[in-house]
Amino acid sequence: MNLTSVKSLQILKEIEENLEDNYWIRHSICVGNTAGKIAKSLKLDVDKAKTLGYIHDIGKKFNDFQEHDINGYKYLKELGYDDEYANVCLAHVCLNNDINCTAGIILSYNKLRTDFMKNHKYTIYEKIINLCDLMCTDVNLTLEKRLIDIFVRRGIHENTVYHIKEAQKLKKYFDDMLGYNVYNLFPNIINN
Ligand SMILES: [Fe+2]
Repeated sequence: MNLTSVKSLQILKEIEENLEDNYWIRHSICVGNTAGKIAKSLKLDVDKAKTLGYIHDIGKKFNDFQEHDINGYKYLKELGYDDEYANVCLAHVCLNNDINCTAGIILSYNKLRTDFMKNHKYTIYEKIINLCDLMCTDVNLTLEKRLIDIFVRRGIHENTVYHIKEAQKLKKYFDDMLGYNVYNLFPNIINN
């Protein structure tokens, strides 16, 4: 089943009603809106980019950060949505199909996650979400400020420098594709 940005926002709003702290909902909305702007500039499907951004962290509704990728994937599949949408939950926790390329977290072993990372080919939309996840708290930030935000909250580990380098490569990939600095699309980023 297809998922739209309108339906994704509706799902988030329903979840939000039962939350004391809605930070991750505000973050998800920021990621979706940021992804929509980048997709528009690349003449891609804006609604799909927004949708994937809105739902990428939906597994956080189950209050288990370590497993939020798996829980989100399973939740969307149970609701009947296609892999095209559910996959972003798994895809966004690592860069470059590498289970070790993570920010502020070392993932414990899970067969579903490991098999997915081994075999999955990232779509352009999933790459956009991975970049936007690293450009958003609940507002737009530079990659470097966002990474510091993650390190302060979650700590650093032996793969942190490797992850920073891969994150910078991901931003360059989109800078090159756009033909200008992706930050130009977000004037507020300078103030944040
Ligand atoms: Fe996120």
